[in-house]
Amino acid sequence: RHGSTQKEIKMSTETERRVENLLTRSKEALTINDSAGPSAPSGKQSFPGTSTTESDSTSKVDKQRFSAQLRDLQNSKKASPSARAMQSFREKLPAYRVKDDFLKAVAANQVLVISGETGCGKTTQLPQFILEEEIENLRGADCSIICTQPRRISAISVAARIASERGENLGETVGYQIRLEAKRSAQTRLLFCTTGVLLRRLVQEPDLSGVSHLLVDEIHERGMNEDFLIIILRDLLPQRPDLRLILMSATINADLFSKYFGNAPIIHIPGFTFPVAELFLEDVLEKTRYKINSEFDDYRGSSRRRRQQSTKSDPLTEIFEDVDIDSQYKSYSTSTRQSLEAWSGTQLDLGLVESTIEHICRHEGDGAILVFLTGWDEISKLLDKIKENNFLGNSSKFLVLPLHGSMPTVNQREIFDRPPSNMRKIVLATNIAESSITIDDVVYVIDCGKAKETSYDALNKLACLLPSWISKASAHQRRGRAGRVQPGVCYRLYPKVIHDAMPQYQLPEILRTPLQELCLNIKSLQLGAVASFLAKALQPPDPLAVKNAIELLKTIGVLDDMEELTPLGRHLCTLPLDPNIGKMLLMGCIFQCLGPALTIAAALAHRDPFVLPINRKEEADAAKRSFADDSYSDHIALLKAFEAWKDAKRSGRDRAFCWQNFLSPITLQMMDDMRNQFIDLLSDIGFVNKARGLKDYNHYGNDLEMVCAVLCAGLYPNVIQCKRRGKRTAFYSKEVGKVDIHPSSVNAGVHEFPLPYMVYSEKVKTASIYIRDSTNISDYALLLFGGALIPSKTGDGIEMLGGYLHFSAPKSVIQLIQRLRGELDKLLQRK
Ligand code: CDP
Ligand code: MG
Repeated sequence: RHGSTQKEIKMSTETERRVENLLTRSKEALTINDSAGPSAPSGKQSFPGTSTTESDSTSKVDKQRFSAQLRDLQNSKKASPSARAMQSFREKLPAYRVKDDFLKAVAANQVLVISGETGCGKTTQLPQFILEEEIENLRGADCSIICTQPRRISAISVAARIASERGENLGETVGYQIRLEAKRSAQTRLLFCTTGVLLRRLVQEPDLSGVSHLLVDEIHERGMNEDFLIIILRDLLPQRPDLRLILMSATINADLFSKYFGNAPIIHIPGFTFPVAELFLEDVLEKTRYKINSEFDDYRGSSRRRRQQSTKSDPLTEIFEDVDIDSQYKSYSTSTRQSLEAWSGTQLDLGLVESTIEHICRHEGDGAILVFLTGWDEISKLLDKIKENNFLGNSSKFLVLPLHGSMPTVNQREIFDRPPSNMRKIVLATNIAESSITIDDVVYVIDCGKAKETSYDALNKLACLLPSWISKASAHQRRGRAGRVQPGVCYRLYPKVIHDAMPQYQLPEILRTPLQELCLNIKSLQLGAVASFLAKALQPPDPLAVKNAIELLKTIGVLDDMEELTPLGRHLCTLPLDPNIGKMLLMGCIFQCLGPALTIAAALAHRDPFVLPINRKEEADAAKRSFADDSYSDHIALLKAFEAWKDAKRSGRDRAFCWQNFLSPITLQMMDDMRNQFIDLLSDIGFVNKARGLKDYNHYGNDLEMVCAVLCAGLYPNVIQCKRRGKRTAFYSKEVGKVDIHPSSVNAGVHEFPLPYMVYSEKVKTASIYIRDSTNISDYALLLFGGALIPSKTGDGIEMLGGYLHFSAPKSVIQLIQRLRGELDKLLQRK
């Protein structure tokens, strides 16, 4: 094991005093909360309109009447001119040509795989064909069609689209349900939901008894939830011979899914798209005359050093460096050649994106522009840049819209609307626009070639979310988005050599993410032993990754030694959140600093509100540090920033405030919305009584020592040690040894810390291993709120992190700590 040390900590009188203080407050918190205690958690979320109960209580005659009503309604909508126009639009979609074959195949087979190009009508048409057919044949009352979507935004937009194609309001026969938001009624026969919602429904309805048809969409993306769902479904099918399962995929790998389901029949929908011209970086540079700035960099140092570093993590850069630039690019101008040489591909040059947009606006014809970026960071930077530059001298001619999976749902719909005729729509999107969202009027695609991808190093227990090159399949999808209504152009902001070196397909998510949430789901669905269940997956994950996940769940008290859910585990199962974040929220309730816990959890579950402007980095760092004050904590910095933003908002100064402090107003707003969602979740499981008001859960909301302790409870076992080495401090982690503090942290460049440990949210591997957001914490915070304490073998203290940390302290303190932890455990593990 790396750097395993026996750390002796002599508790000073000062420390002892602080332990006593924290103990007293904790005890107070425990008793206050216990007497007023949360009502017994129901542990169950209700699904409105679950059709089993409905159909049981509805008599046969009522059902016939209802089916007849549905048919009359459906037929009555067909006559209007707008319905006719809609019908003729639908008949032009490629999906319409397979309608009869599809319906026959659904009737004759339990499982069916459908593949077709994005935009051919799989999502909007196929479920609708079934719906129409069932209603037409007077089976409307008994039909309940569910179609899953990997993302919230597509569930809403598709449901809205189908409702409008049927001339209805959303929530009548067609509805949606996503986490904490639904539009559905007793009349709803076709429901779009996120895959996560369906997985949670399975907890109460393991055989999906109310469902007649289940369509699982976008399975080619190989998301973890979808890969998980199909294991369950394959086992379920024999028990539900009447259930129809339809798997829908882009034109990738349909065979793989068919084989998984015993060679289920495949229907391929032949597609149509207009031709899309393809330009690579070299051509884009020629056209835009843009000069890539070789100074452009993140903070990791010179471009040479960066290139050396990136070679390690990015084999594609190596390939690019092997290319003989002179002979390959002889035909290009000097400035293009210089730019190509400066291009390193490690980080996107937003100036290049902007000048490509500008080029299109000046020199190309009408049509919307769709820009693929890696994440919110880039999207908001580019939005700012475009605003700042008073784009092309007239911002009123442009409608610039962000499109990101976790945007507030209200803003999302304008993405689909056509802009007024004198305006050009520019959509800045993540890879969400790749296959699940169709924006019809796109004629130009700008593709940065990357997407944020999680990866997981099971050996070092290291998860990272980093932009990495997309696959050829994704690049093809992105290009196709430009040819929906007329011939289009795809501007690729990377050289052709990179494209040629891209992998054919992306690795499935289940092979590149930590599995704790998945393991928790397997447990809550009572699917048996985790390892043997996951061995049935389409591509089973690494057993070491499974083992790590289970170990972590045991460490944080979610699973017991037998790998069964503890009461705490059962609470956390009902929160659609990472178990660590869920635990932080519960601790926030118990220790009455819920406000800060909500804010920090929202930022962890969503994103950091601090933006990092490239050219004003020092000012931005200074702003962040001023929020951190002397807390030595990135988490406290964001907490204080959020609170200051709330104040600024109350007095209407929030815009200026964000601008001055380098904060993203959109992220802050989203965090605010998420906080409210979390409160609803906590009240669902009985940890918060909304009637009592938040104040009751926030007595220690301003007590940063307490907040940091709760933070420690949530982030454990993400702990590193700070060790003085001469004038500097070095940092060590149990798994990988020496690590560095990320340059964006308020703790970067600090040489002296008041406290001996840090908890952190994320360990990221790039050139070295960086600790992202970190908080300096004390030994007593760890002792009280960290993982299990084991009496040390030598009998002179206690150990944690499997013996990596050793504490010696006066017996009385240790006894007190043990007692309090016992109390806390009782509370957390209460049924
Ligand atoms: O699922 P797939 O990618 O095969 O296509 P779809 O989402 O069913 O979309 C079929 C067509 O419906 C698109 O090509 C658009 O023309 C149209 N559509 C739309 O206009 N507005 C939406 N919100 C969704 C789809
Ligand atoms: Mg689709």
